[in-house]
Amino acid sequence: MTETTRRAVMFGAGGAGLAAVLSACASYGSPVAEPAADTDDSLDEPVEEESEAPKKKKKQPKALADTSDIPSGQGKIFKNQDVVITQPSEGEFRAFSATCTHQGCAVASISNGVINCPCHGSQFSIEDGSVVQGPASEPLAEKKINVSGGKIRLA
Ligand code: FES
Repeated sequence: MTETTRRAVMFGAGGAGLAAVLSACASYGSPVAEPAADTDDSLDEPVEEESEAPKKKKKQPKALADTSDIPSGQGKIFKNQDVVITQPSEGEFRAFSATCTHQGCAVASISNGVINCPCHGSQFSIEDGSVVQGPASEPLAEKKINVSGGKIRLA
């Protein structure tokens, strides 16, 4: 009985030793987590820098055209940007979607005060994009533009 008691004491002491080691690991492990949090903070900084870059681009959008590129009483089609810019009267500029509201063809020309769709013959006013001739029944969607310094930019 006394040997058993000694072993129990030995294991008990050993167990206490293991517990001390484990608790030391546990307490040692927690400081490791803190530098990881610091690493996350340092990752936030480049993200902020990236988010500033698009803001700079928004401040200076590329001009779509010079005002002198748009003939008075006519307009010009920018297929890649899906935009038609018109100048119904001297110094007054308008912009519309270049996608026909009938079945989605790209409008192709401007003549006699109208924007022409080649697919089924719809025509739209250069003044407000309204339907001059069907089969389209809805006007071309207007787009907002900024005109300053002789440059036309999408708003
Ligand atoms: S898609 Fe333009 S007239 Fe039909």
